[in-house]
Amino acid sequence: MTLDLMLQKYPASSEYLIEALRDYQTAKIDHCVTEMEIVKIAKYFNVTESKVCSVVSFYSFLSEKPKGKYVIRICRDVPCFVNKSESILKTLETRLGIKPGETTTDGLFSLEFTGCLGQCDHAPAIRINEKTYVDLTPDKVKAILSEYREEKS
Ligand code: FES
Repeated sequence: MTLDLMLQKYPASSEYLIEALRDYQTAKIDHCVTEMEIVKIAKYFNVTESKVCSVVSFYSFLSEKPKGKYVIRICRDVPCFVNKSESILKTLETRLGIKPGETTTDGLFSLEFTGCLGQCDHAPAIRINEKTYVDLTPDKVKAILSEYREEKS
């Protein structure tokens, strides 16, 4: 989806800014909003560029930095922690060779922390792009990563 097409979906009112940023970034393969896009978005919503930048830097799900094709967000809130989310994190770090905040060299995966994913009854949980995985074990995580890698080839 081009930025122009995405913007047409929203009234030119600043109350739609966050929703538009989230939708646009989700649709992009590098999951980020560039400086040039920020200029265009600010103009469309009739806000300053610094307002758009502050929104992007405030919300952890928005970014100016390119991310991998698949953004893996691991919940680090208490219910997941007591259900061994640390072992899930370890598995992800080992399998991907990256730490939270980093992207694999092939540009396939980024790893990030997130707050509660609303799946506390099925902790531990992760989200990969828009899909949530629950009741995880290290073995389930290994299988999930293999599926994503196979999808690429
Ligand atoms: S605490 Fe992890 S999903 Fe709610």
